[in-house]
Amino acid sequence: MSVGSQGVVFLLAIAMLATCALNSEARVTIENGLKTMVYLSPKITQHQGSVSNKYYYDIEFPKGHIAIKSFNAEVVDEAGNPVALHETYLHHWVVVRYYERIGIEDRKYKGNPGFLGSDQIIAGNAGICKHGLSQFFGLGSETRKTSTRVPDPYGIEVGNPLEVPSGYEEKWMLNIHAIDTRGTVDPMGCTECRCNLYNVTNDKYGRPIDPNYVGGLYCCYDEAQCQVKNGLESVKRNLYLKYTVKWVDWSDSIVPVKIFIFDVTDTWEKTGIHDCLIEYDVEQSTTGIATNDYTSSRRTSVRFPISGDVIYGVAHQHSGGIGSALYRKDGGVICSSKPIYGKGNDVGDEAGYIVGMSTCYPEPGSVKIAKGETLTLESNYSSEDSHIGVMGLFYILVAESTSESNYLVQVYEEELKVPIFSWGLAVFGLAICAAVLVAYHRRKQSEDGYQSIAT
Ligand SMILES: *[C@@H]1O[C@H](CO)[C@@H](O)[C@H](O)[C@H]1NC(C)=O
Ligand SMILES: *[C@@H]1O[C@H](CO)[C@@H](O)[C@H](O)[C@H]1NC(C)=O
Repeated sequence: MSVGSQGVVFLLAIAMLATCALNSEARVTIENGLKTMVYLSPKITQHQGSVSNKYYYDIEFPKGHIAIKSFNAEVVDEAGNPVALHETYLHHWVVVRYYERIGIEDRKYKGNPGFLGSDQIIAGNAGICKHGLSQFFGLGSETRKTSTRVPDPYGIEVGNPLEVPSGYEEKWMLNIHAIDTRGTVDPMGCTECRCNLYNVTNDKYGRPIDPNYVGGLYCCYDEAQCQVKNGLESVKRNLYLKYTVKWVDWSDSIVPVKIFIFDVTDTWEKTGIHDCLIEYDVEQSTTGIATNDYTSSRRTSVRFPISGDVIYGVAHQHSGGIGSALYRKDGGVICSSKPIYGKGNDVGDEAGYIVGMSTCYPEPGSVKIAKGETLTLESNYSSEDSHIGVMGLFYILVAESTSESNYLVQVYEEELKVPIFSWGLAVFGLAICAAVLVAYHRRKQSEDGYQSIAT
């Protein structure tokens, strides 16, 4: 980390009344057992129209057996000032946990976006996509105003030494995809990765791109260049993703939650395989004028693998998104999540951009999913204009019902007429498993970004 970024972290730490020392551990703030740490990613150097889509391995992250309570992030400049989306569009960031064989540090994957065979094993979320979307956390432009808080008594368990394979250690990878749209001819087009604006006909590896592919991650790979206005003098600047992790030390009173990510492009319904394509396009409506309906609605169904209680939910959409929901088999809503659009120029309120997503925090025990239940994900976009390379993801955190608690639920149902007893059982019945968060991935880019980190 550069002297500059250390300084930024240092100032932030002071601002948070942290103990002021340059040692990481000393910068942790603790409030009622909740620990907070602010980190900076490696430096991201950009100029007008440039794309950065890099993979940073072994990032700074809290150590030990802990329960993560939230993970927030934002892009800042070298002075630590937040950077607006209309300057640097945060297309996405994702955080992936992996296990690395101890002692391979010497031959680190410089520039390699994938993981190194058996030396690095992805320790991803609980499902549901077969490839891609293995992250624990991840969001995009909506990062600043989207809650990632995991309510008590739940937590995302990490760092459990019993889960790390022998000879390995737990590490974290951060992928950041940022597009500098200052001085560009069509900023929104750059954020949608429209191939014509990037003057791209081949992908990162020189393979020809299908002419029908109008835009998406193939066209805005690392170091790609979006079209800028004539005569612009190139100005470089350095940015960081500042990420804030909150956690508590692990204890038996914490109920672990599992992270599940759904993708509306999941092909399971048709193919029986969870092939998640990550991106899709929304065509401009030809009937909207007549019907005054500009909703493009996409749906997919998947079978859920475990039973448990939903304790958090959030969707991820791109500009043009107008809402998304996860439904149970009978049509009941598990969680509905809507985008919050910015209205002005301020950081966190940038007009035209999704600056936040609404989240769901169901009363614990009130939203249950049964093992094998078929759930439907719906992602709505406005089709007033066409949109390229959009996403329809949905994250939920689920506290799994163990067989013991299934038993208790049965007893509970039999004992319904005995309120005091049933209350006790209801609370007890919550005792279980694990959790979620946000973000991304990508289609069949065999060696490229998303897909490779996911396999
Ligand atoms: C676009 O790419 C072509 C072929 O690589 C090149 O000849 C042309 O100058 C580029 N145009 C712009 C505007 O950069
Ligand atoms: C999506 O659009 C359909 C059709 O207009 C509507 O019935 C549904 O309620 C919408 N869903 C969400 C989550 O907004």
